[in-house]
Amino acid sequence: MTQIPIKTQAEIEVMRRSGKILANLLQELKKAAKPGVTTKQLDAQAQKICKETGTEPTFLGYRGYPAALCTSVNNEVVHTIPNDRPLEDGDLLSIDCGVTLEGLITDSAISFIVGEKENPEATKLIKVAKKALQAGIDQARPGRKIGDIGNAIQTVVHNAGYHIVRELTGHGVGHKLHEPPIINNFGKKGTGPAMKPGMTFAIEPIIAAGTRHTKTLDDKWTIITQDDSLAIQVEHTILITSQGNEILTLSTQF
Ligand code: MF3
Ligand code: CO
Repeated sequence: MTQIPIKTQAEIEVMRRSGKILANLLQELKKAAKPGVTTKQLDAQAQKICKETGTEPTFLGYRGYPAALCTSVNNEVVHTIPNDRPLEDGDLLSIDCGVTLEGLITDSAISFIVGEKENPEATKLIKVAKKALQAGIDQARPGRKIGDIGNAIQTVVHNAGYHIVRELTGHGVGHKLHEPPIINNFGKKGTGPAMKPGMTFAIEPIIAAGTRHTKTLDDKWTIITQDDSLAIQVEHTILITSQGNEILTLSTQF
């Protein structure tokens, strides 16, 4: 089992700053994501904000990924490359972004409905995803095990009648986008590595309204639900503290 990195106080300070920049960036994009706007425009805005804040867009160039954001709409689960299709009123949009500041990365995703049109199914999915993320975060404290996070997420999702896309997971984050451990969005209480102060995790429930089965499109990135049902991703980077945890990518919305 690979060691889970423990961050120093100095590294934590940088990740706090990185996380605030990322949270603000995502809120700016949420404001900009009106019907008619394209996700490519949002990506350009994200890259501009990175320049202004002295951060690098972590995803750009990661394993050849061509953008700063993943912008997944409706039946798209994750990793949709920003494109020229205008957003539509009532679309469910998940925006995932990572920023690197002084070599340290935070990773976060928000999800919301574009425009004014009512979308009751998406509204419910957003509510459940946020609740699942919070339930997972509530388990992130010293002495608990990684499996406790997945178990809490799974319980919320399954109680709502939704499905966990099992192959997409949370992860440690810091000097690299993906560090140990893998944080499954399902699991058994009391299993897996123990959490310790100074560990930093990206917790990210990824859930689908219909089947949990997915397919990858020809672009090799975009993952959609097999039955075209709605899917969602929400994500925070958190720090394990001596008392519990601190959400590093916190803003007023998830
Ligand atoms: N947020 C994603 C994750 O946690 C990263 C996107 S992969 C990239 O795995 F290639 F788009 F960068
Ligand atoms: Co992530």
